[in-house]
Amino acid sequence: MENLIERAANDLLHSKYAIALTGAGISTESGIPDFRGPKGIWTTDKEAEAKAYKRYELFLSDPKAYWEEILGFKGTYGRFYTEIRKAEPNPGHYALAELERLGIIKCVITQNIDGLHKKAGSENIIEYHGSVNKLRCVSCGSRYEFDEVSLENLPPRCKCGGIMKYDVVHFKEPIPLDVVEKSGKEASECDLMLICGTSAVVYPFAGLPRMAKLRPGVKIIEVNAEPTPLTYEGISDYLIQGKTGEILPRVVEEVKKRL
Ligand code: APR
Ligand code: ZN
Repeated sequence: MENLIERAANDLLHSKYAIALTGAGISTESGIPDFRGPKGIWTTDKEAEAKAYKRYELFLSDPKAYWEEILGFKGTYGRFYTEIRKAEPNPGHYALAELERLGIIKCVITQNIDGLHKKAGSENIIEYHGSVNKLRCVSCGSRYEFDEVSLENLPPRCKCGGIMKYDVVHFKEPIPLDVVEKSGKEASECDLMLICGTSAVVYPFAGLPRMAKLRPGVKIIEVNAEPTPLTYEGISDYLIQGKTGEILPRVVEEVKKRL
């Protein structure tokens, strides 16, 4: 483990354009359950998963009922959203913010909707699956902070007259174009990807490392509690297996020793 942490520190220091990709695993140490880990939401509640797969269809067919469901979340999903609102960043989030401050990590592309990277001080963040703190107009793409929109009349409407949905991207929902463009640009410019706390099975996000790996010389480092398809298929150069909240701060320490 020790020399993999030193190796990651060296690789980061020699990189010209390193970015980080993160998933639910980086937030479990903040008390938010992941989805497919042993205690994950989908692992423990198949019904919640089945409902999640129908949520976008519900929005398309009956946006009022969709909002009533979102605002009335109970059970697993209700707890999930409550945990998210209460959560604070952990050392894993702070380590990535520090690497950005040191000028080493240029951008964080996260699947997480919890807003914890921003809370930890990261600045250049792409929320690939949206945010619990925002609403998005499906006509013009404008985003609003949750508390600046009245939810008296459902579904809420944008200034352009368009219907607004939760900014969170649901299963089967297309990733907003601005997000696809920005993350595609980062993935095509980076020479190192530090992938933290994701099972790397959900597309199109899981396609980003594969796209980057097509270019010669791009390094892909995983930090995860268990191997993923990126590990098994040799897309990543190496996996540092363990908790992001323990490993990432040690990587920062090693980087600082070498600065
Ligand atoms: N440190 C490192 N790895 C961890 C930790 C931790 N503290 N906790 C969990 N993990 C690992 C799990 O072992 C698992 O491999 O993080 C991974 C989390 O994977 P998922 O639960 O599948 O989460 P994610 O990859 O982010 O899911 C992608 O799927 O459900 C949708 O939209 C949702 O954004 C989400 C997407
Ligand atoms: Zn609009």
